[in-house]
Amino acid sequence: MAAAAKMLVSDIVSGGISAVPANYVRPISDRPNLQVVHDDSTIPLIDLLPLISTFPDDRDRRRQVIRDIAHACHNYGFFQVKNHGIPETVIDNMLTVAREFFKMPEKERMKCYSEDPLKAMRLSTSFNVKTEKVSNWRDFLRLHCYPLEDYIHEWPSNPPTFREVAAEYSRRVRELAVRLLEGISESLGLEREYIVRAMGGQGQHMALNYYPPCPQPELTYGLPAHADPNAVTVLLQDQVPGLQLLKNGRWIAVHSIPNTFIVNIGDQIQVISNDRYKSALHRAVVNCSQERISIPTFYCPSPDAIIGPAPPLTDGEDHPPAYRSFKYDEYYRKFWNRGLEVETCLDKFRAIAPPPPT
Ligand code: OGA
Ligand code: NI
Repeated sequence: MAAAAKMLVSDIVSGGISAVPANYVRPISDRPNLQVVHDDSTIPLIDLLPLISTFPDDRDRRRQVIRDIAHACHNYGFFQVKNHGIPETVIDNMLTVAREFFKMPEKERMKCYSEDPLKAMRLSTSFNVKTEKVSNWRDFLRLHCYPLEDYIHEWPSNPPTFREVAAEYSRRVRELAVRLLEGISESLGLEREYIVRAMGGQGQHMALNYYPPCPQPELTYGLPAHADPNAVTVLLQDQVPGLQLLKNGRWIAVHSIPNTFIVNIGDQIQVISNDRYKSALHRAVVNCSQERISIPTFYCPSPDAIIGPAPPLTDGEDHPPAYRSFKYDEYYRKFWNRGLEVETCLDKFRAIAPPPPT
């Protein structure tokens, strides 16, 4: 009997390969061009202590952090954070259990496999194998994490510490995400709670991305250029480089600093901010010698939340609403169904400009 086809990149690689299989090879016009990535510019690093602590004498320092956030969100859509309030052990344990998960035997991992992007817990590969023509050099476990009690029973029970470690991690990251959304709200001149309230019951998903070493990294992507569909992403990565973001038409490598997180604005904040903040394009590239793990948390509105530009940020003349209002669920389904081929999903929700006056 012929062996079953390998679904996951990790299992294709573990057989030993010297070339990238044909279905991972990008057309020449769409390759990472690894030589022209810039290392000379980096994203802002923001010390969040004044946002996390509640000392009454920190009002001025809080104001400065809010200004730093405004600058980063407007100019980069990306920043790194330190003094974020999440203990080192929580971070280390999460990276360790993620590594352990992807080292389990194929048979054990495949119990979680699914190709349905709307499932609340699934192991999958690439981006959306059902819609895309070329696959990506990535396997991932995706989990819904908020409200935790609705989902934790679906999470993998192996490795044995998985649920406990990932639950603690997701609780901590949720606290951080809420603090960040409060800061982002204020930085737009909105009430501190505006964005969190606009997100209704809220949602939180986490991905454990596993990028195996790749024999020909110049031919393929871990993840091609995309913007995140959620509100804000809090990314933890190991020490292996791979994340890049697009700034002024140039791809910039984002280096990992131990015990920091990378924060990026997603499409929903771009909408709420009425285009003041941008949901930046970013991608992950792979390399030939080292595996890489990244763990993004996608903080998002609840599926039934109605999202649209914040009224205080729209006015008839200079800043008409750039988007129509929509249910987050509608946005999320469009994002997953279209594949990552088209670069941004936001354009599908742009307001139709009124005809020019005659
Ligand atoms: C993502 C993502 C980047 C990375 O999962 O949306 O952008 O470095 N990941 O893995
Ligand atoms: Ni992303």
